[in-house]
Amino acid sequence: MLFATDQTFDLYTPEALRNPHPILAQMRKDAPVYKLARKEMNHFPWLLTRYDDCINLTKDERFTKSYLRRPSSVPVNPNDMQRQAAATINRHMLTVDPPDHTRLRSLVHKAFTPRMMRELGGRIQEIADNLIDNMQGKAQIDLMADFTIPLPITVIAEMLGIPASDQAKFREWTQVIVVEGSRGAAGERAGVAALEFIMYFHQLFEERRANPREDLISGLLQVEEAGDKLSSEEMISMVFLLLVAGHETTVNLLANGTLDLLTHPDQLQKLRDNPALIDSAVEEILRFNGPLGSTTMRWALEDVKIRGQVIPAGDMVLASLLGADRDPDVFENPDVFDITRDPNPHIAFGNGIHYCLGAPLARIEGTIAFSTILKRLPNLSLAVQPEELVWNESILLHSMKALPVNI
Ligand code: HEM
Repeated sequence: MLFATDQTFDLYTPEALRNPHPILAQMRKDAPVYKLARKEMNHFPWLLTRYDDCINLTKDERFTKSYLRRPSSVPVNPNDMQRQAAATINRHMLTVDPPDHTRLRSLVHKAFTPRMMRELGGRIQEIADNLIDNMQGKAQIDLMADFTIPLPITVIAEMLGIPASDQAKFREWTQVIVVEGSRGAAGERAGVAALEFIMYFHQLFEERRANPREDLISGLLQVEEAGDKLSSEEMISMVFLLLVAGHETTVNLLANGTLDLLTHPDQLQKLRDNPALIDSAVEEILRFNGPLGSTTMRWALEDVKIRGQVIPAGDMVLASLLGADRDPDVFENPDVFDITRDPNPHIAFGNGIHYCLGAPLARIEGTIAFSTILKRLPNLSLAVQPEELVWNESILLHSMKALPVNI
């Protein structure tokens, strides 16, 4: 068995970014606990690729989600305004452990119940239809720019109560913060974007405090004022997390899923013939080419041995969701895209206490978006060869840069 860090498994070549599955299969077999040779957030992460190991990681209290609890973490330089700003927007559910995690999650979970989501369905359908109306008269479009990006952004922005005119602005900030921030020290632009983000939301919070509306931001501000349950850093971080988690992922669900359907015409036809298969098709899309390549980070609080390999205290660990969801010990014929797959216990939404809060929202957005695409774009086809599509250089997000299609 291979365990040491070396260059054997490179997940960052253009080919691997497009199709990481052969490499992940090899890792699952030969090096299921493997330290990558390239840094994420300034650290070399260990990547777990077996389903069981990924599930166990999400429950193992020898790992923390909090960078501040990580052994030997370097304190933030108090004079560094930009790093401070980046730290300020990083005190959210995904970067804290209980009891803070429990408190933060309980404040918003009511907004994301399946019942609330069904009520939102009519509005999501309207947004999807408007986006498709806007395509009239065009022969070729980038489905991401024209549909898969604006749909989830509009939905989460409306839920939070962000004016439509400001939506492009925060998409740019969150992208810079997420993509450049993950490059660690090089993330100066990320710091500037974080500052702008914070200033913008402080102003919006003031407006909503003065004139509350029926939106999530007004609701959270009322909680903040009533019980002092939410610090202002936590308030900013919560909004940041909901914005980022609420669109970067769903964008890829819609884009990767459309690509999967277009490259598996038999499954596409099956779905056209039987639209009631939509729910199980969404689950298979989540499993087969999920929007997230891996979970977010966890840090070892002590030396932890997994399959004979010691992960030293302080090291970063990621669970490969794409790896786990094609584990042949769990899924029959894992490389077959089968929209009727049952059972389908994929972990595209994670597992354990950090299980995706927005899963009901993502599922309903997926169901409505794919159904609308099938109904309203009956001649949809890829405008380039699948091999020509460019994928982003990230193992966290499994995402394309654009999806050119003929309509
Ligand atoms: C298809 C779309 C989505 C996928 C695949 C996805 C996936 C995930 C995963 C894997 C996690 C756990 C990460 C970890 O354990 O490190 C997570 C957490 C989370 N997701 Fe999603 N997500 C999606 C959409 C959404 C949406 C629409 C929202 C809503 C705003 C959302 C909000 C959250 C939040 C708040 C957390 C943190 C929960 C916690 O720490 O308790 N996600 N998501």
